[in-house]
This record gives sequence, C-alpha cells and structure tokens, in this order.
Amino acid sequence: MGFVDLHSHVLFGLDDGAPDATTSMQMIEALAAIGFTEICATPHQLAAKFLPDLGDIARTFDALTQSVGARARLHLAAENMWDDVFFGRSQDGTIPSYGGGPAFLFEIHPSAERLPLGLTEHIFRLTLAGKLPVMAHPERYEALWDDEALTRKLHASCAFVVDLGAVAGYHGRKQGKVARRLLEDGLAHAVASDAHTREDVARAAEGIAWIRKRLGPAAVTRLLDDGPRQILAGELPE
Ligand SMILES: [Fe+2]
Repeated sequence: MGFVDLHSHVLFGLDDGAPDATTSMQMIEALAAIGFTEICATPHQLAAKFLPDLGDIARTFDALTQSVGARARLHLAAENMWDDVFFGRSQDGTIPSYGGGPAFLFEIHPSAERLPLGLTEHIFRLTLAGKLPVMAHPERYEALWDDEALTRKLHASCAFVVDLGAVAGYHGRKQGKVARRLLEDGLAHAVASDAHTREDVARAAEGIAWIRKRLGPAAVTRLLDDGPRQILAGELPE
C-alpha cells in the first residue's frame, strides 16, 4: 500500500515550509523515496502569523498536484492552530479538514502550562458532531508532559500524530523522550514527517528507522500505513 504522511508543509510560498515549487518537488520526491505514496499538505492556519488565503492554498495545491503527477498522491488539509480563527470556523462548520472530510489536524501553543480553557470539552463536542480531531505533535505540549491522565483523556477522542523528527531526537531532549514514550506505550495513532524542508525528510527517515528497530515492522505498518488511512477515513484507530 505505501506510507501516508498526515502532516507536511510541502505547499510552496504559503507558510514557513517550502519557499518555492522546486523545493516542493524535492521534498515530495524525497518523501516518495522513503516510502510515502500519499502526502497530505497541511499549511499553517495560524492567526496573525501564517494565515494564507484558502483560495491561494487551493490554487497552489492544484498546481503542485499537476507537477507531481504519478509520483505521489497529494491530499489537501491544514494545520489549524487552536485560536480565535479556528474557534470561529468550528462554530460555523468550516474547519479546513483532510479532503473536506471529518478529520482535521490541529495544534496548540506548545509552552502553555495548561491546555486552552475548555479544550477537552470543545473536542468532545466536535466528536459528537462527527468530527475526528487529529492532534499534531502531542509530544510538544508541556501541559501534557507529566500528566498521564490528561494525555489518556485526550487520546480517547483525538488521533495522536507524533512527529518523526521528534522520534529521531531533533526537536529537543524532552520532546524526543515523550515522542518515544508515546510510541512505546501504544498511544501514538500515527507518525508524520511535519516536513518544512528537505532536511526534515532525512530526519523523518531516521525516525522511521528507530520505529522499525525498536518496535518492529508491524509498528511501522500500523503507524505509517493502516493508522493514517483510518484517520483519513475519519476513524480513530484502535
Ligand atoms: Fe506542522
């Protein structure tokens, strides 16, 4: 089947990911070379910093899809920061999601001591409305680092997508430790490249190698193939 990357910044000229079309192609070719057959482009939607226009995103996506051709299958989604823009969209049902389906990727500010007020309740309401919240890099949030109960509570309603670069140790010591613990404890539903650059793809390959060596080939299939495909279909993997 091939790996599915649920989180990447391969769309050019929109956020802090690929700056131009050439880099986009290099990143996609590098992802394909390490086994990804499907790549979700998840440009930031982050108020006052990276909030590219949804029309520009769609046009860039169409152009890149044409250039990529049969090298990989691209899906359009977004990395939604948990902010006022997101909140407004979640009220009127317009959160940019994976292919317009029920699953959407979100992140929160990493260094807050506590989760945003009402986050767990809001997530629960979204799941009742048929959505699948997909949490980007759960290893990054200080509020979860030493709170096993909160981690497990969120894990019951959100898909956890750990960054492969964190697994390989490139996102900080504590982040690496938490990323590997989430994998070892079976709490990661999927892993993704979160690639912003060509170098990030090489780091993702190191993360995959770590999983294969420490957890075995079945874990690679679960975290990079079966798990992401279930998430794309709107289901929370077991
Ligand atoms: Fe990202």
